[in-house]
Amino acid sequence: MIPFNKASITELEERYALDALRNGKTSGDGSYTFKVYEQFRERFGIERMLLTTSGTAALEMASILIDLQPGDEVIVPSFTFSSTVNAFLLRGAKPVFCDVRPDTLNMDESLVEGLITDRTRAVYAIDYAGVPAEMDAIDAVAAERGLFVIEDAAQAVGSTYKGRPAGTLSEFGCYSFHETKNYVMGEGGAIVLNEGRFLERAEIIREKGTNRRQVLRGWTDKYTWHDLGSSFLPSDVLAAVLHAQMERYDEIMGKRMAVWQAYERELAPLEAGGRLRRLVVPGHVEHNAHMYNVVLPDEDTRTRLVEGLKERGVMAYICYVPLHSAPMGRRLGNDPRDCPVTEDLGSRTLRLPLHADMTAADVDRVLSGVFDILS
Ligand SMILES: Cc1ncc(COP(=O)(O)O)c(C=O)c1O
Repeated sequence: MIPFNKASITELEERYALDALRNGKTSGDGSYTFKVYEQFRERFGIERMLLTTSGTAALEMASILIDLQPGDEVIVPSFTFSSTVNAFLLRGAKPVFCDVRPDTLNMDESLVEGLITDRTRAVYAIDYAGVPAEMDAIDAVAAERGLFVIEDAAQAVGSTYKGRPAGTLSEFGCYSFHETKNYVMGEGGAIVLNEGRFLERAEIIREKGTNRRQVLRGWTDKYTWHDLGSSFLPSDVLAAVLHAQMERYDEIMGKRMAVWQAYERELAPLEAGGRLRRLVVPGHVEHNAHMYNVVLPDEDTRTRLVEGLKERGVMAYICYVPLHSAPMGRRLGNDPRDCPVTEDLGSRTLRLPLHADMTAADVDRVLSGVFDILS
């Protein structure tokens, strides 16, 4: 079976993980964590970033940092992972679901202003398939109305928007290094603090609400409870794995990009023949080859394609079930008609396998399956 995704792990990841295990500092904030920060500083110019136990944890930290309160409203796309919404639901804030653009499946920035009420406190936008949302437009509306913007860049490590790295496009960026992402540490993530004023409090929230970091820096001699917080810092053993992945950054990106480009090139005739539609990558975006999606004419065709590919040993994946019409979204009082574009496209979008270790023969098998089944 060709899996829809598989982490690319080599002897380098094993070597660094073993080294971290042997050097006696297996909890958080060991030397590998700081090596990772250095890699992100050099590659993306990111000055303030904290590794977290997951992308989910990074989103939860952002929700604490902006002091969301029960009754606050947050504008969020429905076409996302549950974590984007759970992160603020846990603080008692309410999701106001925004529909998506049909071309990129990202939040439709033109709808955001119309969803703002007196209770709106923040916008959580996601960079779907590693393609950043229209963050300039979202940031501009938010700035005018005094709202925070959180960029859920879980899928977008390595992408750029108008030349700026994904994750740096608003006050907070949240990355994931889950094993399904381009660069992995098993379970893990990071919060990027694009405004310096949040750093000190973020360090406290990440350390169970204590000022332990300040003690480690020698700024004070005992640490104590200062704020809300949780156990948000990951083991240095996992940071060692991520350090290896970041050393292999260009190799992993190059291999993923070759697969992405083969799909893009070879599927063009099927689009011309009206059998499927490819998603659009806007000209001002450089994407990171995180996913390859196709939009089918209807849900039955998608089901036929999933089953036909499975028979051919290919695992294709239905990415998100829209949140507003999922069981939890319904319990929160949403109606499937609230986001019609999401509801429609969510039922007929399919993600083809894409990972760094796919061979040319794997790619051919996926493509010939798609052609057979749809022709
Ligand atoms: C858009 C989005 N946000 C958040 C997450 C959660 O990240 P993690 O699995 O690292 O908690 C994911 C995926 O896993 C995601 O795709």
